[in-house]
Amino acid sequence: MVVIAQVSDLHVDSGERSGERAGRVFRYLAGLPVAPDAVIVTGDIADHGAEAEYERVRGLARLGSPVLWCPGNHDDRGPYRKALLGEDVDVAPVNRAYEIGGVLIVMVDSSIPGRNEGRLGDETIEWLGATLAGRSEMPALICFHHPPVALGMPYVDGMRQFGAGRLAAVIERHPQVVAVLCGHAHTPAVTTFAGRPLVVAPGVVSTSMLPFETEAIVDLGLPPMVAFHLLDDDHRLTTHFRVVV
Ligand SMILES: [Fe+2]
Ligand SMILES: [Fe+2]
Repeated sequence: MVVIAQVSDLHVDSGERSGERAGRVFRYLAGLPVAPDAVIVTGDIADHGAEAEYERVRGLARLGSPVLWCPGNHDDRGPYRKALLGEDVDVAPVNRAYEIGGVLIVMVDSSIPGRNEGRLGDETIEWLGATLAGRSEMPALICFHHPPVALGMPYVDGMRQFGAGRLAAVIERHPQVVAVLCGHAHTPAVTTFAGRPLVVAPGVVSTSMLPFETEAIVDLGLPPMVAFHLLDDDHRLTTHFRVVV
């Protein structure tokens, strides 16, 4: 059994509120009696993509588990690489693959610099196909920020990931892809994409509301949540959500 915690949409800025919520979530994860095999953070890590915001997040996310990141629309690839990953500044898509407990975790960059909606660039689609083809025997989780389907939330749906047919084609060629994990929507949700489960992680900073719940788009009062993805030896995924009070 492999356990992967997912945290999304921290939107850490210089303010007290975002730092308190992100800190609360990372303290909860750090305090678990058994550390997850990995913690994935699916974008909108910094609210303004500033170096100081990434440095603040790095200070909060001191965990016993490896922390795997991918950028969102609020992130900025240059400062993200420099201050979060400790790498040279470069504005190419930030795509990474990791092997954790026999599971391939692919962290894909769905951001378009300067835009709120997402799209996987041609270079990213090629990289993803090659990465999966090279490890066809290993169960894989594909993770990125923007959901590639509409979720019944007009505000979010208008800035989802577009051009997702190419991604669906890659997934359909690779039966080892167990599920797709994303963020951006600030709501815990489950649907399907390319015949696989698509799990949307809740947002740490806020919760998006459904149009029939309230007229407000966002609720700032609901507590942050995290997701725990359990992948069993038969490569079956079960996801649990936890409120972090
Ligand atoms: Fe977000
Ligand atoms: Fe986002």
